[in-house]
Amino acid sequence: MRRYLMAGNWKMNLTPSEAKKFALELAANIKDLDKDVDVMIAPNFASLAYVKEAIAGTPIKLGAQNMNDNEKGAYTGEVSADMLLDLGVEYVILGHSERRDIYKEDNALINKKVKFALAKGLKPVLCIGEHLEEREAGVTADVVKKQLEEGLKDVSAAEMANVVIAYEPVWAIGTGKTATPEIAEATHQDIRNILTNLYGAEVAENVTVQYGGSVSDANVDNLMAQKNIDGALVGGASLKLAPFTKIAKFEKV
Ligand code: 13P
Repeated sequence: MRRYLMAGNWKMNLTPSEAKKFALELAANIKDLDKDVDVMIAPNFASLAYVKEAIAGTPIKLGAQNMNDNEKGAYTGEVSADMLLDLGVEYVILGHSERRDIYKEDNALINKKVKFALAKGLKPVLCIGEHLEEREAGVTADVVKKQLEEGLKDVSAAEMANVVIAYEPVWAIGTGKTATPEIAEATHQDIRNILTNLYGAEVAENVTVQYGGSVSDANVDNLMAQKNIDGALVGGASLKLAPFTKIAKFEKV
């Protein structure tokens, strides 16, 4: 059975002191969870150590928002897998559309990062998703297929047990325009089929596929009711205590 993963991507928000305060409050709200649900928060690099301390002893897991694909060395401004592991990081978000669009990360680089993260024992959250023009042109399934095939190149079936996929339609990120549960589910079904072709049905059935893009406490239950939606990657609403607590403790309808 695949697990649900409810995650907050805090992006470039909250100073370390603010992140610590928020994480302590969130930790007080989330002391226990259903046994098939995981909750993760991904603060900025500067806040990881504080947040690690704040969530100690709770089921909340720690994530990072990016990682370099090299072991170590002369890469000014970058952060390595070992640094993240040393800070108690378990998940690393890779290939977010903001990294793809603003920092020009392509599938080949993202694939290197995914493989490096896996080799180091980090769990990559591989983000994929189409732009508005691509959805309107009817090529969403082709876009996510290419992102999955190239992003997961040379990732083995056994390694897929540690990979999470986050489907984030770019037009739904930060816009308040969530994909309807039906639209999201249709692409999640496509993603499951693509994973089945790549790895076989058994592996594909066990991969957690999150939805991201304007997830809120108001729409989470209906999204999570879909057969192939196994979690949420939340931006804006993960920066608000009560809504994110509600998202983490979504109702299974
Ligand atoms: P919003 O929830 O703010 O739309 O952001 C989604 C996202 O990009 C999470 O990674």
